[in-house]
Amino acid sequence: MPQNSKHYSIYSMELGPMENFVYLLHDHASNTAAIVDPAWEVNEMLGFADEKEIKITDVLLTHSHHDHINGLQQTLEHSDARVHLLKPEAKFWDANLSNPVLHHGADQIQLGDSLINILHTPGHTPGSACYHLGDDLIAGDTLFVFGCGRCDLAGGDPEEMFQTLKKMKTELPATTVLHPGHNYAPQSPTSTMASQCQGNPFLHFDEASDFVKYRMHVHDTIRNTPYEAVSKEQACASLK
Ligand SMILES: [Fe+2]
Repeated sequence: MPQNSKHYSIYSMELGPMENFVYLLHDHASNTAAIVDPAWEVNEMLGFADEKEIKITDVLLTHSHHDHINGLQQTLEHSDARVHLLKPEAKFWDANLSNPVLHHGADQIQLGDSLINILHTPGHTPGSACYHLGDDLIAGDTLFVFGCGRCDLAGGDPEEMFQTLKKMKTELPATTVLHPGHNYAPQSPTSTMASQCQGNPFLHFDEASDFVKYRMHVHDTIRNTPYEAVSKEQACASLK
């Protein structure tokens, strides 16, 4: 389906010193929007919405790390928006949010005519979420173009990440467009699940133990950003 037949548009801005992407999901019929992971110079995205006279009604958080939420307060001062996150992330974060909407995986958010499905994707943090609408996936720090989120920080768990990515690989259509939380592959800021299944090393391992070894001990010693595609043979060979 051509892009303009969708009920919505996705705008992205790369902001801050860590190549974070802030997204705006704009529902055409209602002229409302959800902002995802408001951070850094978020006023640029808020100003963009103002210019287009789009009302921001919802904030979607993929997870609670500072580089994804440090513009939340400013966003709530700008717009009277509902904040959505997963219940396990709220527990992990322990922040003093007023009236957040706490979700479980498989919940849905209706934004005008656009329906957003929430996936619980633990591994980077206990309550990491991806937001799936149409054939687009807003993936936070769960899946990057040719990369995935770290699992060695507080709340991270590489075995959970293995299960999360395995599920995404098998359940998301190959045509799904990946919109990651960081621009770690600037030659390809977005990608498809088909390309990721071919070239994302974190989707190449069949055994949890191999994935854990690669994520926790091997990857950071052999790869740096900008990320490029890695074949299954290369990924498996790097474990030896
Ligand atoms: Fe993160």
